[in-house]
Amino acid sequence: MSADGVRGSAGVGSGRRAGLDPGVPGALKVAPSVLSADFGNLAEAVGEVASGADWLHVDVMDGHFVPNLTIGPPVVASLRRHSGLFFDCHLMMTDPGRYLEAFREAGADSLTVHVEVGDTPELVRRIHDLGMRAGVAANPDTGFSALAPLLDQVDLVLCMTVFPGFGGQAFMAEVLAKVAEVRAAIDAWGLAVDLEVDGGIDEHTARQAASAGANVFVAGSAVFGHDAPWEAVEAIRKAVLEARPA
Ligand code: DX5
Ligand code: ZN
Repeated sequence: MSADGVRGSAGVGSGRRAGLDPGVPGALKVAPSVLSADFGNLAEAVGEVASGADWLHVDVMDGHFVPNLTIGPPVVASLRRHSGLFFDCHLMMTDPGRYLEAFREAGADSLTVHVEVGDTPELVRRIHDLGMRAGVAANPDTGFSALAPLLDQVDLVLCMTVFPGFGGQAFMAEVLAKVAEVRAAIDAWGLAVDLEVDGGIDEHTARQAASAGANVFVAGSAVFGHDAPWEAVEAIRKAVLEARPA
């Protein structure tokens, strides 16, 4: 595991090292998802949340693992030129292994692959070898048993609280039992692993997820659908702090 934020030093593009500081594992982090931002005005949208966000969540969809298509390495590279945020890239792809180097070159800090696509230990090893943080994601109907063998290999576990593919869906509270199982294992085994929830997160559902043990909160429509996105980020942070005092 490499959760110290000090990763490979090889120059990429402008000479930037891979791996911005992700912060302390387990600490509260709010990660606005650019999926719900204005794609015609991405840099400005990201700038609006830059001061309040801990990470920027970047949803990559391949039109195969999920029905939707979104963005790829060129857009990540463009965003990188406008933002110093930690880029938490969620790869909703059937074959993420083909693109790991490209995302690294583009300036990704963390890559999360879905356990459903298989080959996860090898993908995680390659992501680490490239100097990035590695995460594993599980769909709502994928059980804890699929994640358990990977917990000591990854830096992040992502429990999807909607079926991936689209922003703006309703939070699935039934996933919280799995979130609690993952939290219990992380704590029992003393692991430096972040536990992220993604899908339907707003200040109300973030509170529930925090009570179940999540510490990273991805929010798309609740943030970028808000007239003042930075206020939505702060509202989520405040709600989580109330549910799970620091
Ligand atoms: C859904 C994506 C999410 C999405 C969440 O497949 O993985 O990151 O942006 O959007 P909201 O917060 O609107 O549910
Ligand atoms: Zn996502």
